This record gives sequence, structure tokens and C-alpha cells, in this order.
Amino acid sequence: MGENAAPKIVVGLGSCGIAAGAREVLAAFERELKRQGVRAKLGRTGCLGLCYREVLADVITKSQGRISYGNVTPEMVPRIVEQHIINDKPVEEWIVLGDGYTTPDTDFLTRQYRIVLRNCGRIDPEAIEEYIARDGYQALQKVLTEISPENVILIIKESGLRGRGGAGFPTGLKWEFTRKAKGDKKYIICNADEGDPGAFMDRSVLEGDPHSVLEGILIAGYAVGAQEGFIYIRAEYPLAVKRLKIALEQAKSHGFLGNNILGTPFNFNIKIKEGAGAFVCGEETALIASIEGRRGMPRLRPPFPATSGLWGKPTCINNVETFANIAWIISNGAGKYSAIGTEKSKGTKVFALTGKIKRSGLVEVPMGITLREIIFDIGGGIKDDGKFKAVQLGGPSGGCLSADLLDIPIDYETITRTGAIMGSGGMVVADERTCVVDLAKFFLSFTQNESCGECVPCRLGTKRMLEILIRLTQGKGEEEDLYLLRNLARDVKVASLCGLGQTAPNPVLTTLEYFKEEYEAHVRERRCYAGVCTDLTVFVIKDNLCKGCGICVKHCPVEAIVGKRKEIYHIDESKCIKCGLCMEHCPFDAIYRA
Ligand SMILES: Cc1cc2nc3c(=O)[nH]c(=O)nc-3n(C[C@H](O)[C@H](O)[C@H](O)COP(=O)(O)O)c2cc1C
Repeated sequence: MGENAAPKIVVGLGSCGIAAGAREVLAAFERELKRQGVRAKLGRTGCLGLCYREVLADVITKSQGRISYGNVTPEMVPRIVEQHIINDKPVEEWIVLGDGYTTPDTDFLTRQYRIVLRNCGRIDPEAIEEYIARDGYQALQKVLTEISPENVILIIKESGLRGRGGAGFPTGLKWEFTRKAKGDKKYIICNADEGDPGAFMDRSVLEGDPHSVLEGILIAGYAVGAQEGFIYIRAEYPLAVKRLKIALEQAKSHGFLGNNILGTPFNFNIKIKEGAGAFVCGEETALIASIEGRRGMPRLRPPFPATSGLWGKPTCINNVETFANIAWIISNGAGKYSAIGTEKSKGTKVFALTGKIKRSGLVEVPMGITLREIIFDIGGGIKDDGKFKAVQLGGPSGGCLSADLLDIPIDYETITRTGAIMGSGGMVVADERTCVVDLAKFFLSFTQNESCGECVPCRLGTKRMLEILIRLTQGKGEEEDLYLLRNLARDVKVASLCGLGQTAPNPVLTTLEYFKEEYEAHVRERRCYAGVCTDLTVFVIKDNLCKGCGICVKHCPVEAIVGKRKEIYHIDESKCIKCGLCMEHCPFDAIYRA
């Protein structure tokens, strides 16, 4: 900020911010600045990652630097303008981040290492100048003018970067296969399908820093010898699509895209293909079919896309986060990247931390960090000071891990050994009020619904598995069901055609492994310890605590509570729908779940 620079106010306008009311906050700043006649610049940025603090608004002044306010509402705006912008005194009780301030939110960022998210929440995603001001497109310039395609591939290989879309395949090797494959035309595809429930890393990067992804795609195109790229993105991500379109236009007008890029012989164009939002379309061969205008069905590999992909041509397909790493690696060197992480899992990984966690949001950490550090040190522990029960890694393709695994390092190999997978980085935390059988049922009902139906093990196997899980949660399960469920899960895993079916049993197998006693309780005792499976839950009024106040009667929607005022009430089980409203509203804690 220059000597006479006006203060700047930046509001976080990612999808999470907008959902929390960021547009209203922005409008309030606009109104307030006008009303008080204050000279200040107003801007926008993407998600910084502190989704639990949205709406976030930063005030940048010469004297105070950058100060971030959290949970901002339009009502808070006049005080921020008057106190901070006019009188240069930050509103200390609303600060979440700022130089010289230590707040609980500081922990959320200090343990992170931001490569992929380096610009998210820091730049205006719709202004290419702000990306360029943070060294954007310098890596592209460098490779086009100083490094041969083969050496670019060598750098990526040396960095140790592995694909962030789930399987962790070495990126440099994939680029090399595509470069060496025979073909007059080659393609790059950016996989932005992101269909896992609980995952929002790719969307946030595209909304917050689209140019970093475009730059990665362009460098990949140069390295493998492609002239055309596609970004396959689900249509449910309208803001990401909008920002990508703006970024493409800007990149074109600045000479980073099109013909003779930056005055070199390199030509490259990128098209956006919006998908209808089917989970299986994230699978690379199904995705390719979808771009070609066919139904998004996977096919057997080999041949792999690197040799025969889009329209039968060699195609390099990588995930959004994979591409967002590339420019940083080129600019900072393979050595700096490979110094981060573990022996076999280099660099950082972005996780979408959600569920029963105090600080939910986007977290980028070095590989090798433990689950405990992410969940407790960064995430602040369990919401409402509850007790940790489980963490689901990698969404419906992943697995559910118990408390005794909290100290394992997060890297591809260790996670795979637990039965879960790194996946794309969804991390859903569960507390003791979560029933793991119900959780497994949730993820399996998702994959069962999303199965394309092409192969029998996936189409019917997941259906039969789901039926068993439904029986268990209804208290109708038998001992034999546990045996059947495990065997069926193993069969579906080995016999399915694509990754969807091959990974769909993971939530079931891991919960059976780490929470066996809960499955057994559902069968043998007809009990759900978490009190989630309503058919297995009974609400009981404790005689010694009930004061006969009648509040429970007022809240019961089905008149299941019987008795008279000032006497002890009872619950008629035949009428009770197990909604729990009576327990929630009882002022004497006289109602419990049995
Ligand atoms: C059912 C299914 C869904 C997938 N969804 C995605 C996705 O949404 N995004 C993604 O990048 N990869 C997804 N993948 C993995 C891709 O098939 C592919 O491995 C990946 O895009 C390769 O990129 P990478 O090497 O950068 O990881 C999915 C795989 C399966 C089996």
C-alpha cells in the first residue's frame, strides 16, 4: 500500500461466504462508506478457508496492515467503518486474524502450509492483475522460454507430486506417458467433477484462484505436447464456472492463452464442459465418454487415457488441486516441494474439514501430519466439547477410522493400510452422537444411487449391502447378516469394473473393522448406542426427576406423552415417533434416550 493509499475493504465472496450473507455485507460497506463520506476501496476475494467464520471481511490500512473480521453482519459494518477506517482503531473483539493479534483462529492457519491455497482469500479471483501481482503466469513464461518439455516433466517427477484426485498416481510419470504416446493430437483434461459428499476443495480453489489452475493446465499442455484442454466441471458449481469463464477471457486477452502464447510457438486453448453432476462422471473413462457426448459410463482399462483417451487420442487427465501445485513447483523448484511431506507422499494436501468439528473449513497441511493435529490442533476439537468418535476420510470411496488411529501420519500408504483412502480430501468428523452403522448406510446409499449400473457386482452388490444395513438400523438384523455383509463387501470390491464399485464397500468394511461392537449391539441387543437409529431407540421419563411441568406434552407432535400436570408423565411407545423433542425441551433433564 502506497503512502497515500486509501484503506481497502475486502469481503470473502466464495460460495460459503455468499451463503452466509457476504453480498449483504458488501452492500452494507458500500452504503456506509457513501453515508459517512469515507474514501476506501472495496474488493472481493474467494474463501480463505475459515468457513466457520464466514462472513469474513478484511480491512487493510497503512498503519494496521491486514485485519480480518469474522462472522460479520451488515449491522457490524457502521462500527467497523467508523472505528477502524475513520479512527484507525480496529474493533478488537471482532478480529479473527491480524498482525500482532493472537486469537483462537490463529491456530487454524499457523499449522498450515499453503501452496495450493496460496492465493485463496488473498486475491480477487476475477482480476488477473492480482494473480499476476503475486507472480502469476511467471512459471508459464519460464517453461516456455527456458525449459524443454522433457525437462518440465523431469521437474514434476523430481518434485514427487502425486495426483490429488484420489489414487495418488505420480503426476510426472503420467505426463511422460502422454508425451511418449503416439498421436497426432493430444489433450489435457482438468477433472473438476468433485462429487464426493463432504468435499469442496476443488470448488474453493476454482472460486478463489482460477488462474493457478489454468496456469497448471497450460504448463501440462506444453509438457505433453497438447494444444487443447478441457475443464470438466459439474454444473452445480455455477460460481466456479463463472469465475473460470472470466479467467479464460482474461488469460486470452493477456496472451497467456490462444496462439503464440507469450510470443512463443506454443498454442493452447481451453474449453469448459459442464457435467450434469453424476458421481461416476468423475471416473476418468466415464468423464471422457461424457465430454464426447456419450453417456458417462466407465470402461475397462487398459488402454489408459494417456495412450487412448478423448476421441481415442493420448490424454492427460489431472485433478484441479494437482494442477494448482504446478506453477508453484516450477517457480520454487522440485527440491523445495519434495522437502515437504514424507518419503513417498511429497508436498501438501488440502482437506475439507467438516462434520462435528469446531473449526470447519479448508486446511492445507504437509503430508505426514497426523489426524490428531488436523482435528484437534487446527480444527479445535469436537463441537460443543463433545467426544471424538470417528473420522471418515475420502468420502464414499473412503473409510471410517476410530480414535486409536488418530496418531497415524497422513500419507497415501499409511491411509491405504487402514482400509480407508486419501481420496480427494474429504474429512468428516463424527462425535459420539453419530451411529457408524447409520453413517455406513448413508455413504452406501450414495454410491448405490450413483452406480451407473453397468456391472452386476456394483449394481446389485451395493443394493444387497444397503438392504442389510437398512435391516440392521431397523433392528431387524440377524447374526448372519454381519457375515453376509462382510463377504458381499469383499466381493463387490474385487469384482466391480470401475473405482466406484471397487471402493464403495470401504465405509462398510472399515466400520465393521473398527466399530464391530456397534454392529453387534444393533443385532444382539437391538440397540443403537448413539441413539440415532430411531427403531432401536426408546425415550423414557425418569420418575424421580419429572416435575409434571407439562412442557414435554406441549412439544410432542403426536400426543405420545400421557399423564396429568403436576404428576409424573409417561411416554406411550406405540405412539412415539422418536423425534426427541420432549428430551430437548425438558428443563429438568428428566427424559433420556435408552
Ligand atoms: C467414482 C469415481 C469418482 C471420481 N471422481 C473424481 C473427481 O471428482 N475428481 C478427480 O479429480 N478425480 C476423480 N476420480 C479419479 C479420476 O478417475 C482420476 O484418477 C483423476 O482425475 C486423475 O487425476 P490425478 O492424477 O491428478 O489424481 C474419481 C474416480 C472414481 C472411480
